[in-house]
Amino acid sequence: MTVHFIGAGPGAPDLLTLRGRDLIAACPVCLFAGSLVPEAVLDHCPEGAHIVNTASMDLDAIMVEIRAAHEGGHDVARLHSGDLSVWSAMGEQLRRLKAEEIPFTVTPGVPSFAASAAAIGAELTLPGIAQSVVLTRTPGRASSMPHGETLKSFAATGATLAIHLSVQNLDQVVADLMPAYGGDCPVAVVYRASWPDQQIVQATLDTLKSAMHNGISRTALILVGRVLGADQFDESCLYAPDYDRRYRPQTADSPWASWSHGND
Ligand SMILES: C[S@@+](CC[C@H](N)C(=O)[O-])C[C@H]1O[C@@H](n2cnc3c(N)ncnc32)[C@H](O)[C@@H]1O
Repeated sequence: MTVHFIGAGPGAPDLLTLRGRDLIAACPVCLFAGSLVPEAVLDHCPEGAHIVNTASMDLDAIMVEIRAAHEGGHDVARLHSGDLSVWSAMGEQLRRLKAEEIPFTVTPGVPSFAASAAAIGAELTLPGIAQSVVLTRTPGRASSMPHGETLKSFAATGATLAIHLSVQNLDQVVADLMPAYGGDCPVAVVYRASWPDQQIVQATLDTLKSAMHNGISRTALILVGRVLGADQFDESCLYAPDYDRRYRPQTADSPWASWSHGND
């Protein structure tokens, strides 16, 4: 018996990995975080599967379900939204499973920051503008931020910011970012990226508050940075005609000339 943690993606049921889909189809038990995982993903469950929405359960109650499956020898598909590496609460579940010696696997999913960037057709790293993306959030009712992980300190780097769990803190977000990024810095708020009711608000730090007239108060990602909408940036060397590289040596004496695809 194994608990398979599966990143269920940002919402669209076809933004699930093939591995995730096949694992869901093979597990007689499915525990899903119903606040963000769409029910359509559950269509992959086998006939007669025991399906539990864990949105209203605490960790102890979730462990009761997992232990029961363990005792019955039933594999479990454990679904969380987006990818499991950020804000999935997988860490605390893994700690319990390790303590009880219950086997598990982890299958990644499409994270919401990637789905949001796709929704606005943006690359978040552009040469000469930003080469880092900070995945972060602001403090919430249940979660404080570690000392030093402030929006102001991330803003000082000029990196592209992907701010989660924060659309309800928009005033503070704008106030914290304004000094480093400037009022004309582009911002995009993507609500429910990839869902049928996806909404996109594109503005600047100056205009964001007035642009947010549609009542978006949850499940939205805030992307901030000069890369958004930029068209004045250097091309990368990757496809430059004269760039000497492993896959495209320019001369016979290039260090890459004798390299073959079998080598690393
Ligand atoms: C608990 S976190 C889950 C993050 C998830 N593990 C991921 O990989 O994106 C929930 C937050 O992720 C963001 N989020 C999740 N799904 C989203 C979507 N489809 N569109 C926009 N933002 C989303 C929102 O900021 C939301 O408040």
